[in-house]
Amino acid sequence: MFTDTNRTVVVVGAQWGDEGKGKLVDVLAEDADWVVRYQGGANAGHTVDLGARSFVLHQIPSGILHPTVRCAIGNGVVLDPETLFTEIDDLVRDGLEVEGRLYISDRAHLVLPYHKLVDAESAASQAIGTTGRGIGPAYEDKVARRGIRVLDLRDPARVRDLVRRGAAHAAAQLAVFGSTRCVDADETVAMLDGLAERLLPLAGDVGLLIHRAIGRGASVLLEGAQGSLLDVDHGTYPFVTSSSTTSGGAATGVGIAPTSIDAVLGVVKAYTTRVGNGPLPTEFDQELSERVRALGNEFGATTGRARRCGWFDAGVVRYAARVNGLSDLAVTKLDVLDTLEQVALCTGYEIDGELHTEFPSDVAALDRAVAQYEWFDGWMTPTGDARSFLDLPMEARHYLNRIQALIDTPLTYVSVGTRRGQIIAL
Ligand code: IMP
Ligand code: MG
Repeated sequence: MFTDTNRTVVVVGAQWGDEGKGKLVDVLAEDADWVVRYQGGANAGHTVDLGARSFVLHQIPSGILHPTVRCAIGNGVVLDPETLFTEIDDLVRDGLEVEGRLYISDRAHLVLPYHKLVDAESAASQAIGTTGRGIGPAYEDKVARRGIRVLDLRDPARVRDLVRRGAAHAAAQLAVFGSTRCVDADETVAMLDGLAERLLPLAGDVGLLIHRAIGRGASVLLEGAQGSLLDVDHGTYPFVTSSSTTSGGAATGVGIAPTSIDAVLGVVKAYTTRVGNGPLPTEFDQELSERVRALGNEFGATTGRARRCGWFDAGVVRYAARVNGLSDLAVTKLDVLDTLEQVALCTGYEIDGELHTEFPSDVAALDRAVAQYEWFDGWMTPTGDARSFLDLPMEARHYLNRIQALIDTPLTYVSVGTRRGQIIAL
């Protein structure tokens, strides 16, 4: 992805998350100077399998596993300061150096215990099937101008005031929910006082750092979390997360200009999954869902929930290609389909007797949508050892070529297994 002219590259999920962005970021980080997260928070679970060891990263960019890469957390992220240090300590225990090459935007908002409490106790969050990590309530406070930013930690008196205000709002919400759980503002203040000493040395103007790095010609990878169909604007609203997961969000979430982005790699699975509620037009019946879930180990990396599974939806990915401006496509987990007798691609939807080839914006229409499929012979051959496109069975190449044609985006990577080396670069 990095060339003389492609210096700033965004990696986005082009479905409902869990497409294998962590693996692609790990592969691309080989050539990156910087890897920066730009939105979301500890709701993300990016799995990187190094063979001997497997890592699940929630807040720290997946580039951290490459010792020479510098990593940053942008202003668009909502940062959970408690679990950040658990994550850092786990990496350090595994022999990685983290502090010294991890930078955190001082403009990033904090996720606090009362946000997690509100997320857990809210019937609305349960209806969406959120991860319960406090993401929605933290972004609500940000937009309501009630949030607490990393930079506020420099002033303990200000933190005390802001926490009291935020906690009072959370307590009022819990009362409305009829919850008996309590918000402890003093405990939160004490926690932040304790963490500030460790967090502040990592904090600074990430937008400026990355702007300068770009100016020097550095290779910069902007790592998206979740997927395009979970974007608060472009996703299957209200069954979405609370941030801008698409490439436009990368510019605002890092604090750089949109014009400094050179390329956008969209990552998709060779099929579709989603965790949580909301429409999934190509969802398998229960039997096939269980079969593919077992083959692909489709359980949430953050919550352990069983993921819902379905056929590849070209309507979804074509839409994602448009809103992200995808320059490249990576198809992951092709090997998961190796034992299926037949595979299908969804090319459009029949809604109330009419054929739609563009992805509908109303979830009520999506609920009534009947997916229209093209069927393909399965390849019934293991693909995990393929290292070039021509190593793949003819039926698999045919399936991938059809995806590339339907999405009208060049296929740049095919991943055929979880391990680092199991990838084909086209
Ligand atoms: P929240 O982000 O925890 O508020 O959850 C909102 C929706 O996004 C729920 O359907 C979650 O399951 C989904 N979601 C959030 N993060 C991820 C992720 O990293 N992968 C897949 N789904 C996610
Ligand atoms: Mg994930």
